[in-house]
Amino acid sequence: MTTPATPAARALRVALLGCGTVGSQVARILLDDADNLAGRAGARLDLVGVAVRSLDAERDVELPDGLLTTDADALVADADIVIELMGGIEPAKSLILRAIAHGAAVVSGNKALLALDGPELYEQADAAGVQLSYEAAVAGAIPILRPIRDSLSGDRITRVLGIVNGTTNYILDQMDSTGAQFDDALQAAQHLGYAEADPTADIEGHDAAAKAAILASLSFHTRFALEDVSCEGITSVTADDIAAAAEDGYVIKLLAIAELLTDATGAEGIGVRVHPTLLPRTHPLAAVHGAFNAVFVEAENAGELMFYGQGAGGTPTASAVLGDVVSAARRRVLGGPGRTETTTSQVPALGIDAVRTSYCIALQVVDEPGVLARIAQIFAANGVSIETMRQRIRQDGPDGATTAELRIVTHRAVEASLAATVRQVAELEVITAVSSVLRVEGI
Ligand code: NDP
Ligand code: HSE
Repeated sequence: MTTPATPAARALRVALLGCGTVGSQVARILLDDADNLAGRAGARLDLVGVAVRSLDAERDVELPDGLLTTDADALVADADIVIELMGGIEPAKSLILRAIAHGAAVVSGNKALLALDGPELYEQADAAGVQLSYEAAVAGAIPILRPIRDSLSGDRITRVLGIVNGTTNYILDQMDSTGAQFDDALQAAQHLGYAEADPTADIEGHDAAAKAAILASLSFHTRFALEDVSCEGITSVTADDIAAAAEDGYVIKLLAIAELLTDATGAEGIGVRVHPTLLPRTHPLAAVHGAFNAVFVEAENAGELMFYGQGAGGTPTASAVLGDVVSAARRRVLGGPGRTETTTSQVPALGIDAVRTSYCIALQVVDEPGVLARIAQIFAANGVSIETMRQRIRQDGPDGATTAELRIVTHRAVEASLAATVRQVAELEVITAVSSVLRVEGI
């Protein structure tokens, strides 16, 4: 039997790539909490260098002289554990591959890289027998990947629903609680430092899509890439959509959803999608406010589980990074890398057309006899069943004529049937506009 080395007897060389929002907090904790970490890891975690772009930039951590370097290559070549917190695709990817080739365990928070090139990195890590872990890449501080990978590995996950982007949750929450318009809520998010100066990756859903690909891969034991994720951001959600949803008892959230589905032939596959979604206010995810994240997991035996916490920020995210570092150190001390993911299932990725969900469709219609019947007929012809229909009359048509807004919530229907329904309804001359089509979960 292998006896773990005592902290004093063993030291591991830890290289940190990046000293920004997250990296600076990881460095601080490695330095300030060294004794505790050594006790938990079974070895001292010696920070041997911190790679950055500029040696002169101000840092949120005071580092001992000589630790900062611009030579990331040299650092990676001589470390037991490499922590990549630079972000971006290159040079992060090449540095990770080099670290793996040198036999170092790698910890990263880089969801963009993992969603794009994860399969290549996992294969290289498996081939080299080293551990590649990335708890921080999805939902910041929330321990979600390890529970899915390890704690639920004896169960069968059927669905994962997540609020995994803090910026968009903050924006939608502001619009819901204050009636703010999208642009004002976005500005507030930027002011508070949640959104980037260029917030495209957040508001267009790309950041959430990268996280959805990672969640789906681990939950369904199959590698899913960014291109397997159907993605819609929140830029078209209006204050009117939010207010109308509120009147009906719903809240709008940007959800990342990965679920087991059957296609038209009855074959199983996985649908992975990100889009604004109506949730009843009673759903646990509806209570996730501000920039917080939460992931709701449904498994055959465990039932429903929810994980909640801070999805971003230097110190919270550093907590997840250090959990991975300690885990990598323990495995190094005890021997054996442990598996970072399994890909034994190989179920196909199904497109958004195979998704079955409920929908809320807002229509502006001419207020005259027979209109409802014609609309209902199209829904029926496409096999889309209506759950509720609400009509609001307005005196705002041309020449003071009345128009009506119809809000129709459907039972679960196949996306392709709903799309055909909306297309055909939009062609009716009594329809003046299809103002919104939003998916509804949790009813
Ligand atoms: P920052 O932009 O704050 O920091 C990036 C750091 O990497 C900087 O220190 C920068 O150096 C360094 N760096 C960038 N490019 C290079 C390069 N080519 N060579 C050497 N050093 C380089 O990023 P964050 O800390 O916010 O994010 C880091 C990673 O963590 C990203 O992958 C991000 O997606 C992920 N993440 C971030 C979260 C957050 O809340 N911020 C939450 C969850 C994950 P310099 O300082 O000199 O410019
Ligand atoms: N931009 C991301 C967010 C940061 O708003 O959640 C964490 O990945």
